[in-house]
Amino acid sequence: MGKKTIIVTGGAGFIGSNFVNAWVGKALGKVINLDKLTYAGNMENLAGISQHPDHVFVHADIADRTAVKALLDTHQPFAVVNFAAESHVDRSIHAPDAFIQTNVVGTFNLLEEVRAYWQALPVDAQSQFRFLHVSTDEVYGSLSASDPAFKESNTYQPNSPYSASKAASDHLVRAYHHTYGLPTLTTNCSNNYGPYHFPEKLIPLVIHNALSGKPLPIYGNGSNIRDWLYVEDHCSAIREVLARGIPGETYNIGGWNEKTNLEVVHTLCDILDQERPKAQGSYRDQMTFVKDRPGHDARYAIDATKIEQELGWKPEETFETGIRKTVRWYLEHAEWVARVTSGEYQHWLSKNYHERGEELA
Ligand code: NAD
Ligand code: TYD
Repeated sequence: MGKKTIIVTGGAGFIGSNFVNAWVGKALGKVINLDKLTYAGNMENLAGISQHPDHVFVHADIADRTAVKALLDTHQPFAVVNFAAESHVDRSIHAPDAFIQTNVVGTFNLLEEVRAYWQALPVDAQSQFRFLHVSTDEVYGSLSASDPAFKESNTYQPNSPYSASKAASDHLVRAYHHTYGLPTLTTNCSNNYGPYHFPEKLIPLVIHNALSGKPLPIYGNGSNIRDWLYVEDHCSAIREVLARGIPGETYNIGGWNEKTNLEVVHTLCDILDQERPKAQGSYRDQMTFVKDRPGHDARYAIDATKIEQELGWKPEETFETGIRKTVRWYLEHAEWVARVTSGEYQHWLSKNYHERGEELA
């Protein structure tokens, strides 16, 4: 087993590309990056390491067992980190099929091939191997204002096709540890933000629309709460869990940063007003309340005590520092935004926002 080779799935997406870029940048060994390149996957996110000898990109589907087996056999990784997924709640409401196919069937196929590979390893290599499954806090369902934050012991109560498909994949991972002894780790993280975030999600969408002079769509009354973590902090937590997490355990990852959507949008507008002032007025003038998301979860909040106390992990960014960095990144990467918002993206906008009474495309 090549001790330093790791397979990362979904490494051309938002969080996966941040993880791969950091891994290669820290000279932690070779990364085999398997990605299907759906609308959310973008080779441009990996431009800085495209020629690096420690980065090998493979265009494939996690559900393709032949491709996955060939990669495992050829590269003999010490770990597989699974980011590959369909990840957008609104898309899961419009078209859940792809979520079942990738998040459930894809994870199952990946697990089957990883199990076969792992079972054939020598005993000492078997005990060192890790399968790390990247998941979400959304599997725990929705909190009321007075509920304590999600702990690892909370019951699963997923409410959207997205969170239900992630919950199903988490259960499969758990079962592969319990039944076969596969050394699995599962991480359940809060909402991420930062560079390379596709502008269908709240934070990059608001930055993009603000700069384009378009409405900033706020679902319902904007009182829904999300717990936000800067993407590089999520990646450092995953590295920590991979290095020192206990097989079979799950770890909640979050930065204790609960904000209403209204607070997030206000903060973005205020930073943009400072960094790129409009000729007249504030970006807040573009805020528009639109029809709510069906089944919209009221509040997510992560209790990160376990990873902090057992693994000594802590985020480096506060919401205030991370969100300013993020706005600056988008201001400096207008060409990246222009390229990812052409083509299919426009169809998505007209589908999602037309029914909410807005024409954003
Ligand atoms: P993303 O949608 O930006 O990227 C997903 C990547 O997976 C893309 O590169 C895509 O091409 C690839 N992919 C999709 N289907 C595939 C398949 N069948 N085979 C191979 N590759 C495939 O998602 P993200 O926001 O980077 O999320 C990554 C992971 O983290 C997901 O599992 C998600 O559930 C989880 N997560 C995301 C957040 C968040 O706030 N974005 C929070 C917690 C957990
Ligand atoms: P999103 O970024 O889609 O992440 P998730 O649904 O996985 O938490 O949405 C974050 C919050 O922002 C969520 O409460 C829905 C809300 N939202 C809006 O108000 N307007 C929008 O245009 C979008 C995309 C999301």
